Amino acid sequence: MKVTVAGTGYVGLVTGVCLAEVGHEVICIDLDEIKIRMLNSGASPIYEPGLEDMLVKNLEGGNLRFTSSPKLAYNQREVIIIAVGTPENPDGSANLSYIDSVSQDIAEHITEEVIVTIKSTVPVGTNDRVKELINSRKPPHLQVEVVSNPEFLREGSAIKDTFEGDRIVIGSANQQAGDIIEDLYSPFKVPIVRTDIRSSEMIKYASNAFLATKISFINEIATICEKVGANIEDVAAGIGLDKRIGNQFLQAGIGYGGSCFPKDTKALVQLAGNVKHKFELLESVIKVNNNQPRLLIEKAKAIVGELKGRRVALLGLAFKPNTDDMRESASLVLAKELIESGSIVSVYDPIALENARKVLGDCVKYCTSIDEAIRGTEVTFIGTEWKDIKEYPINRFKKLMDTPRVFDGRNCYSLEEAVEHEINYVSIGRESVL
Ligand code: UGA
Repeated sequence: MKVTVAGTGYVGLVTGVCLAEVGHEVICIDLDEIKIRMLNSGASPIYEPGLEDMLVKNLEGGNLRFTSSPKLAYNQREVIIIAVGTPENPDGSANLSYIDSVSQDIAEHITEEVIVTIKSTVPVGTNDRVKELINSRKPPHLQVEVVSNPEFLREGSAIKDTFEGDRIVIGSANQQAGDIIEDLYSPFKVPIVRTDIRSSEMIKYASNAFLATKISFINEIATICEKVGANIEDVAAGIGLDKRIGNQFLQAGIGYGGSCFPKDTKALVQLAGNVKHKFELLESVIKVNNNQPRLLIEKAKAIVGELKGRRVALLGLAFKPNTDDMRESASLVLAKELIESGSIVSVYDPIALENARKVLGDCVKYCTSIDEAIRGTEVTFIGTEWKDIKEYPINRFKKLMDTPRVFDGRNCYSLEEAVEHEINYVSIGRESVL
């Protein structure tokens, strides 16, 4: 099929490249000309395992192109996928200005009957609004259908999630338009869920809100575990075996981050508020999450005393492993709290240092190895469970730090090894080794 993807952010770029990979003829459009030049030269602007190889292969194969010209992008297309960002407004609601401007471009430049499908996370009712907007500006003889098709891929495993996801959700008012989108994805062998447009929009928000709820729930249980002498790892394993609960997303830590959960949970609270429903459960989920990184700092202060003037290391800055994305990273909250407390902070991350520099500037020392970050420090915090951090020999904390005190926000080590190597080790939802 002839497909255009509007927006080359995470979702748009991965979708465009994967659709080209299965044989569709894909054009990706983005207003950022520098990004388009970069993509046309075969370089990916984001770190995502496997993406760049697939990008190069399909550019060379001729079924993938990048442009910043709406005229070229929307000419003679069968399907247009909108995958632009919906950032957060100051009041927590979703900002739809990119969606509106792309819709306007589509209406002005299409030359055929086309199906527009919205992949961006948008509040319930947005697909209908886009349909009205396009209909009011498009050439009157062309029919345009709008289909909701939310995205569920995770950063770091985006390609795998696209080819082997749990489901593809298609929400349409017009059966035939929904069928065409189903055909578009048929090479992916992923179960398809067909719904009306508004249910499809809601599935996306409800999914992310539920996953965020699972995380805040397990983090609350972890806090109670610490106080009553239980172990969160055993508790999570024990409850996760119940198929109704499931064993995923029960990893206690310093909380969720990234470009989706924090934004989407707030947007759903807003959406509920708009229809006069106070979403108290989700408000609590957000509150628990906001407090979660601070709990670790409080624990450190209770044990070490004031952090002012102390040399402190922070390992892991990305919002989760396998990405250089620092947006809303819980580890970043740790970094900021430590800087505010007056600590002398050295930070390490295997790939997010460049992004970290944009946020933290000269306030911290950037280190390219764990050894360098922890050498001569009195306290180490762990913010992201990167593989190289989890596999770092615990005895080196004793060897390199002035005082071997580790406050682990992601439970990277076992209590047994901390005891064996005489490290003061405080983690989440487990007994402290002091
Ligand atoms: C999330 C969803 O998982 C995707 O399904 C969705 O498509 C995406 O948002 C989106 O809306 O676009 P992502 O933000 O890439 O994907 O990251 P996740 O792997 O879901 O992790 C989110 C955060 O939760 C991370 O900060 C992670 O550290 C934290 N987390 C995750 C925990 O603290 N504990 C867990 O058990 C799992």
